[in-house]
Amino acid sequence: LNYRVPRTRKEIFETLIKGLQRLEYRGYDSAGVAIDGNNNEDKERFIKLVKKRGKVKALEEELYKQDSLDSKADFETHFGIAHTRWATHGAPSAINSHPQRSDKKNEFVVIHNGIITNYKDLRKFLESKGYEFESETDTETIPKLIKYVYDNRESEDTSFSALVERVIQQLEGAFALVFKSIHYPGEAVATRRGSPLLIGVRSKYKLSTEQIPVLYRTCNIENVKNICNSRMKRLDSSTCLHAVGDKAVEFFFASDASAIIEHTNRVIFLEDDDIAAVTDGKLSIHRLERSASDDPSRAIQTLQMELQQIMKGNFSAFMQKEIFEQPESVVNTMRGRVNFASSTVLLGGLKDHLKEIRRCRRLIIIGCGTSFHAAVATRQVLEELTELPVMVELASDFLDRNTPVFRDDVCFFISQSGETADTLMALRYCKERRALTVGITNTVGSSISRETDCGVHINAGPEIGVASTKAYTSQFVSLVMFGLMMSEDRISLQKRRQEIISGLQSLPEMIKEVLSLDEKIHDLALELYKQRSLLVMGRGYNYATCLEGALKIKEITYMHSEGILAGELKHGPLALIDKQMPVIMVIMKDPCFTKCQNALQQITARQGRPIILCSKEDTESSKFAYKTIELPHTVDCLQGVLSVIPLQLLSFHLAVLRGYDVDFPRNLAKSVTVE
Ligand code: G6P
Repeated sequence: LNYRVPRTRKEIFETLIKGLQRLEYRGYDSAGVAIDGNNNEDKERFIKLVKKRGKVKALEEELYKQDSLDSKADFETHFGIAHTRWATHGAPSAINSHPQRSDKKNEFVVIHNGIITNYKDLRKFLESKGYEFESETDTETIPKLIKYVYDNRESEDTSFSALVERVIQQLEGAFALVFKSIHYPGEAVATRRGSPLLIGVRSKYKLSTEQIPVLYRTCNIENVKNICNSRMKRLDSSTCLHAVGDKAVEFFFASDASAIIEHTNRVIFLEDDDIAAVTDGKLSIHRLERSASDDPSRAIQTLQMELQQIMKGNFSAFMQKEIFEQPESVVNTMRGRVNFASSTVLLGGLKDHLKEIRRCRRLIIIGCGTSFHAAVATRQVLEELTELPVMVELASDFLDRNTPVFRDDVCFFISQSGETADTLMALRYCKERRALTVGITNTVGSSISRETDCGVHINAGPEIGVASTKAYTSQFVSLVMFGLMMSEDRISLQKRRQEIISGLQSLPEMIKEVLSLDEKIHDLALELYKQRSLLVMGRGYNYATCLEGALKIKEITYMHSEGILAGELKHGPLALIDKQMPVIMVIMKDPCFTKCQNALQQITARQGRPIILCSKEDTESSKFAYKTIELPHTVDCLQGVLSVIPLQLLSFHLAVLRGYDVDFPRNLAKSVTVE
């Protein structure tokens, strides 16, 4: 939303479309946009809505088809909204995509990230009042509800944000919402609960404040309206953010900083139930009740993210770029934390809680997808270095089981985005039980990093490819660093710590060496890409590599792929083995080596043709291999950082050869903010 920064319609479209493209990795089955249809005070204002099934590109083409955009009209104040969808309720289609609207006149339009769990009740209520629904979405109840509140308002001068306040009191579930209305031209209202939302602020001029005080009042539902009305009237310069002297300022609302980083790196992160309103070029934030954090203001923060970090550069896909960034991303994870000269590790975000962690009953590590695999990968070394019981849990299952959690547990939440709904719910569950909560995320300002008691940012840099790669290796390294910090005082563990710290030091060079196998892996992909299935087998430290490799393959190549614990081979998977079935075995020189050899024999005895990922110096395994990929050898507990990379590369090449869009795998989204 811009205020006193004249923009043409074309510029407004372009800003919205570009923003959507940067966010597309979060969902890409359909997209839509709503902007002001005219800028003529004399004529009746209207909102133009364009929606299209498919990727943002399809929406862009549709826009240009429908609108010549040659309008000379400059908008001094303008507010447009746009959305790219990952379907939860209702199939991907133009009608189900956002913005959703209140009625055929588009009086109120809304974009929504999240899920409304009580939408059936709301829909029934609104239908009984005569509202006709056109989509199958949960979201459509929101614009209808705000119109209902508007139509039944008691006073003519009810503010836009007062309406939104009433609406969110009726909503259950998770949401980040942005509203636009013909009744409030040039005004924006946004709010969140459970789903991320931030506000970018751009102005060449000095801002009135760096800390926006939050207005709140505890009140019951009946008198909300009066209070809101009177409160909004009381807004003055000290409770708003604006450019000093009525100068130009632009506000950008987004789920993720990557959508706005090319315009500004100055952002405000909203908290649950904050209602942010821009009226007359002034931003104010208010809420019904005190926030959980009890912070009386919201600060403008400066993000370190660079535009170039979210561009593909010379790579054909973000995923490929991110795989090749790993020599640097693991260095960034360790920077300033591992002191190789003194063999010490200091994680600033955990140091004040170390005593408490050392005294705990057990460590519980919780995550989803790839982040869960990072927990599996490091469980053994954490058990060894912390001498504590370590549970690893899939967030959804952990919640389904109502797992007992105690005050003296320490619960880790691993999440690249820091926004995954299942992980966030598990965090809240553990907080209620008063356990110490630790976040391991890649996203500064994310819900998980803000809601945990303490934590570690993995600093891998923005990850855009839906299939996670560099975040996995950085999560892995972060957890190992935590183990090292915990064991600093254990005399009996010093030799082992030394060995691991040296391993960390040589990791970047070794990753480069693994990446140099790219061509060889491409050749292997040429042999495999027409297969329907691919098994990945291993055990011990490398079991997680099998799970993660198989996940990469199924996510982007749509081949059936399974990560199999080699110890379980004879309990079922052996039945799958024959001459045709491709099997990748991860066999490293570690304590499981001999047992892996047994599994290898069992496979070759059934005419299986194993492709083996093994250490360079391993002559034994290669004798029985159909093909080998030889990796540099590092300390056993870090080997998984190296062994996963050939599988990341393999999945990438397989997907390209099969003709799929690597960065946009069907049906998936990068950040799943619904349960
Ligand atoms: C989604 C993504 C996965 C990711 C998982 C957890 O399923 O498609 O790639 O591993 O969420 O995401 P998080 O952001 O919590 O690490």
